[in-house]
Amino acid sequence: MTEFANRVEQVSISGIREVFEAAGEDAINLGIGQPDFPTPSHARQAAIEAIENGRADAYTSNKGTQSLREAISTKYDREYSLEIDPEDVIATSGGSEALHLVLEAHVDPGEEVIIPDPGFVSYDALTHIAGGTPKPVPLRDDLTLDPATVEEAITDDTAVFVVNSPANPTGAVQSEADMREFARIADEHDVLCLSDEVYEHIVFEGEHHSPMAFAETDNVVVVSACSKTYSMTGWRLGWVAGSNRRIERMLRVHQYGQACASAPAQYAAEAALTGPHDPVDEMVDTFERRRDLVLDGLDDAGLEVPTPSGAFYVMPKVPDGWCDEVLERGVVVVPGDAFGANGEGYARLSYATSTEDLKEALEIIDDATTAVR
Ligand SMILES: Cc1ncc(COP(=O)(O)O)c(C=O)c1O
Repeated sequence: MTEFANRVEQVSISGIREVFEAAGEDAINLGIGQPDFPTPSHARQAAIEAIENGRADAYTSNKGTQSLREAISTKYDREYSLEIDPEDVIATSGGSEALHLVLEAHVDPGEEVIIPDPGFVSYDALTHIAGGTPKPVPLRDDLTLDPATVEEAITDDTAVFVVNSPANPTGAVQSEADMREFARIADEHDVLCLSDEVYEHIVFEGEHHSPMAFAETDNVVVVSACSKTYSMTGWRLGWVAGSNRRIERMLRVHQYGQACASAPAQYAAEAALTGPHDPVDEMVDTFERRRDLVLDGLDDAGLEVPTPSGAFYVMPKVPDGWCDEVLERGVVVVPGDAFGANGEGYARLSYATSTEDLKEALEIIDDATTAVR
């Protein structure tokens, strides 16, 4: 019988789903990884118009429409003064496909990929799928990734290290100084830095910085997406930007695996990127108010929690049995070890849910914490 490929046998379905399945129907879900806002209407409208006038019927160029790639290039110039040629961008099926392209194009079997632990679940899985070996590294106490830890973990076998800011599951935002260090490490050690910036606009304190802005070589590639910024997770539209030689390699994977990103989604993304930014600003303001509410509630419950500066997650330290107790009382949270071994003793709470639900959940959490202490 044909056996299953080893690469795939090393990957299991995310632990997050198991938590959802264990929850009752009326549970308050703080496990959600997507904004609870509508996609901006100008983005929806652009897709509708493209469909109605027949512009979305055919394949686009493999890299994506010229106008979308120009919009992405203009965005980097406007927001970070970063010059990215539209030819050096591939529009992908969400940030997820972009991560896949980077790893498939740069990791040989047996090579190592340094990933933050706790970190977004895809880094470990996609490394295995590329035939590589994940090398999880621990975070600082404030849940940011220390460039020194990454530098120490680099060996002759390292192909890639992953930086994710703002981060899932921690909400942590890396400082400019850290990003400069990541760029230096990528340059000096001649290893690729994969910078996952899908939460780039959801920052409450400080600013988002990309290591690409500081690198002197082409050893940084950037992944981002419309998913979180514009509440467009269902549209499946992200991108990867990098040097031309890297993009040409990634295009080989994209061309045969995907052909092109969905055409209607490309038109929606272009409108989202070039249209008014108010919906994003309003969403980020709301997330900041909710973050403060959740931090206060967790603090009142006596839990230690680093203050996250971005995304829409908090990661408190929790006592043994806490996640089960909270789940039994009808609040879904994700145990920290779903994001790596070092996540043990933590839980991820998403506040991409209504303020009323958050308030109710925090009361339940308070009681549950007393019960397990
Ligand atoms: C850190 C991080 N990167 C990438 C992704 C993938 O996003 P997309 O929905 O665009 O594929 C996610 C989704 O949760 C994420 O949290």
